[in-house]
Amino acid sequence: MTKMAIMGYGVVGSGVYDIVTKNADTITKKIGEELKVKYILDIRDFDSHPEKHLFVKDADIIANDSEVTLVAEAMGGATFAYEYTKKMLKAGKSVVTSNKELVSKKGTELFKLAEEMGVSYMFEASVGGGIPIIRPLVNCLAANHVQSIYGIMNGTTNYILTKMFKENQSFEEALSDAQKLGYAEKDPTADVEGFDTMRKISILTALSCNEELDDDKIPHEGITRITAEDVACAESMGASVKLIGYSKIDGKKVSARVCPMIIPNDCPLYSVEDVFNAILVTGDMVGDVMMYGRGAGKDATASAIVGDLMDVVRHKGKFDKNFSWSTAEKTVFFNPSEEENVFFVRCDKTKAEVEALFGTVWFVEGAQCAFVTEKMTEKAFEEKVDSLGGVLSKIRVYK
Ligand code: HSE
Repeated sequence: MTKMAIMGYGVVGSGVYDIVTKNADTITKKIGEELKVKYILDIRDFDSHPEKHLFVKDADIIANDSEVTLVAEAMGGATFAYEYTKKMLKAGKSVVTSNKELVSKKGTELFKLAEEMGVSYMFEASVGGGIPIIRPLVNCLAANHVQSIYGIMNGTTNYILTKMFKENQSFEEALSDAQKLGYAEKDPTADVEGFDTMRKISILTALSCNEELDDDKIPHEGITRITAEDVACAESMGASVKLIGYSKIDGKKVSARVCPMIIPNDCPLYSVEDVFNAILVTGDMVGDVMMYGRGAGKDATASAIVGDLMDVVRHKGKFDKNFSWSTAEKTVFFNPSEEENVFFVRCDKTKAEVEALFGTVWFVEGAQCAFVTEKMTEKAFEEKVDSLGGVLSKIRVYK
């Protein structure tokens, strides 16, 4: 029997408890032993919980109990979760997490500590909720040079975009539902302003390049400036609008960004809706591979955590270098203003004024003045937008 602890009994932590309890039969059968929750760490009281005796408020009780070899961290954030993760690793316990902020900010240090202690630090649930993406990237696709990653990696914003533009809900209503459904972060600014996706694309890029990187160097914007007019234009182009985290990797030239994008209907990301996420990875040998599934929520995220817990038991808690990035080199991002993109623009100018500045463009039928540019650098695009005297909307287009 492996005895484990859960740190944080919120949406995800309670999901881990539920799966370990409800699916005990299949878990035991697959790993050859019982996985038993011995402690749950939370500062709140859970007096009506059927196993209320499991709850503790002091992390040292877990750290000092040598019977506990495995800990699921579902606290979120990079303050207490950071301190307690270090405490558990230093105490020789393997840790499994869904905490993308912690992995993207402190992964390098936590991997080193786990390696020194000879224990695991696993984070499949940190990107894409229940979708397998970390393991495919570091194992199945490991033989490839990853050339690009494009992902819808935030369930909350994809849910909001779907509810607002397909079902005419208000932003506030859709966000409130996403919070009730347990999709959103404690502070949903991280979702709607693109920070959450920035952390996730940072983790995938670091694993793909096998280099550490600074996630805060990734330019990011959220969905709050997307309007019904933009979505209507996209629809008349046979496209949809999604919040995308992407990384284009060409040897040492790495560009990453988080931004809303117009996705044409021949791209498999086009029809990903609601809380679903999808991550499209292109490798030089395999070509395109897309992983799709529920990107947020209690059961989906907990499913990925419990999968990692089982893997740790199977591998007897040993550190696996695959699930880390090298520190020998650090990714230096390509200058974002020199990156080339295609842009959708909505403005209140005449077609002649637009063509005089942008040259050849493709005008969106039916719209007053909306067009798609040819590929150009971000810098050249911004200069043209300035010369045009500003625009109503500008959204990058997936090409
Ligand atoms: N808030 C995140 C999302 C949770 O909506 O995708 C899963 O990481």
